[in-house]
Amino acid sequence: MMNPLIVVNLKTYQQGKEVLKLCRKIEKVSKDIVVGVQVGDVYEVAHKTSLKVYCQHVDAVEPGRNTGFVAVEGVKSDGAVGVFLNHSEHPLTWDVLKKTVLRCKEVGLKTLVFAGSLKDAKRIEKLGVDYVCIEPAELVGGEVSVSTARPELIAEIGKKLKGKFLVGAGIHNHEDIEVAMKFGASGVALSSAVTTAKNPEKVLRKLLEK
Ligand code: G3P
Repeated sequence: MMNPLIVVNLKTYQQGKEVLKLCRKIEKVSKDIVVGVQVGDVYEVAHKTSLKVYCQHVDAVEPGRNTGFVAVEGVKSDGAVGVFLNHSEHPLTWDVLKKTVLRCKEVGLKTLVFAGSLKDAKRIEKLGVDYVCIEPAELVGGEVSVSTARPELIAEIGKKLKGKFLVGAGIHNHEDIEVAMKFGASGVALSSAVTTAKNPEKVLRKLLEK
């Protein structure tokens, strides 16, 4: 099995100094882990760790009169290498998603775009995104993983998508990762298993254990 790409979505579980603390623990396990952080944390995590930092959201605006929006140029210059878009907790309309992916390409930010179904995944893939991440919304944050509850969905995605895809929702153990990889995923996205753990480092090491 090739090494799985591990994406830890920090969501808004921690704030400020706690975010950096958690990222430092993640970094100890592997520098190859991608962390998805809030916009305000991009600069610090990117400058104080060697993790690959993705911003959890950006807007399709040009620099200028866009009070309160998140400009791709800002996120890029703060040190992000990529962005998340269209998470089930932050869904975008098709039009906005298309424009935002385009803006990210213009400035050289990688795009990890979430999809809840095979139909959405196929449509999103056509935008030329870097990763499609399949997450059935009803399993996000739960105890039962997508690998346990919906292996057939992962298998179907593996057959129908041409590009790289990730799998997420309820990922808790190494077996969850193995199932995803067996069906052709490049890795997994996870959150609560790590962000709410007493010992996130231990949890991550166990997840990666072969
Ligand atoms: O993006 C990953 C996330 O939505 C999955 O969350 O808590 O089910 O691992 P969780």
